[in-house]
Amino acid sequence: MLILGLESSCDETAAAVVERGRLVRSSVVASQNEIHRAYAGVVPELASRAHVERILGVTRDALANADVRLDQIDAIAVGHRPGLIGCVLVAVSAAKALSWSLGKPIVGVDHVHAHLYSGVLEEVGGPPALPADDVFPALGLVVSGGHTAMYELTAWTQMRRLGSTIDDAMGEAYDKAATILGLGFPGGPALDRLARTPGARADAEVFPISRIAPESLDFSFSGLKTALLYAVKGVPEHHSVTRARATGSRTVKPPPPAPLPLTETRRADLAASFQHAAVAAIMLKLGRAADAMSASGVKPRTLLTGGGVTANSHLRMELQRFAEQRGFRLALPAMKFCVDNAAMLAGLGHELLAAGRASDLNLEAMPATAI
Ligand code: KG4
Ligand code: ZN
Repeated sequence: MLILGLESSCDETAAAVVERGRLVRSSVVASQNEIHRAYAGVVPELASRAHVERILGVTRDALANADVRLDQIDAIAVGHRPGLIGCVLVAVSAAKALSWSLGKPIVGVDHVHAHLYSGVLEEVGGPPALPADDVFPALGLVVSGGHTAMYELTAWTQMRRLGSTIDDAMGEAYDKAATILGLGFPGGPALDRLARTPGARADAEVFPISRIAPESLDFSFSGLKTALLYAVKGVPEHHSVTRARATGSRTVKPPPPAPLPLTETRRADLAASFQHAAVAAIMLKLGRAADAMSASGVKPRTLLTGGGVTANSHLRMELQRFAEQRGFRLALPAMKFCVDNAAMLAGLGHELLAAGRASDLNLEAMPATAI
């Protein structure tokens, strides 16, 4: 079975052809970084216009690269939630038009859900994917620009959310931290590179690792982001006065020391320290989630991971170490399937169709995830 996947939820226009839900015959991604760089963030109207201009081109390229004709496609999978609504609409409209004109089934796929699938995709000539019938129970982690959450999965269609971020997503925190450090857009990969500067010290600054509460499975990255801001710009003077008032203390602390000069070495140290704390927060909660699942009698067999931040060098190493220690099989996406792509949608679409979850032409584009 050949499925054509289409994706346009944020700033990547993508199409892919996937065979039997696993083998990626082609995956084409048109990134819009050059359009949004000047604004240091995605401008929704510019993004949706670019999707309209590119969706047919990437679809043609995906078919050509897979060496299949449109009439050989068995179904169309499309990311229909979550995303910038004017963007999501583009792929959804294209998928409906193809479904109607070809008389082929359409299946709407949740983009966040699809990130969890990206680690079981297989490339032509690449290492084999995990056996399809041997994945569950699984602990799932999505770390992307818009979402950071963990899930317990007993099937591709049976899952529950264990916890999620109460403020920034991890990728969003990376992007903001990169802006504070004066790095370009998109910030995540740039900060990751800076943190890997030879000699950069991850213990140069002790940044907070959010715990929230002893048993919490939620994440928080806003405190870490603020700590980095203060390390770069200095703690505002009113901060100590306000603190003294809030605690009823009579002694107002002396003004905080001026921040260290932001030399190249200092920037690399701050990037490494930020990266250390951000990844430690993820690993802490993953450990808690795995313990909680085991305690409830659902011992995970696999750790499914996905989302743009799974491209992060430090996180990838820590995930490998964690999976080894716990005896979990790790489904870590190949670098090209970490960030947004349509192969993950086509792959999960196959599983949804097999589970009888086909959509129809009433499929709606929606801004929020359903998982
Ligand atoms: O999954 P994705 O492409 O889009 C969403 O669904 O949100 O993730 C994009 C996010 C951005 O915030 C980007 O900065 C981050 O993934 N990212 C990284 C790295 N590569 C991409 N963050 C940290 N380190 C990286 N190497
Ligand atoms: Zn994504």
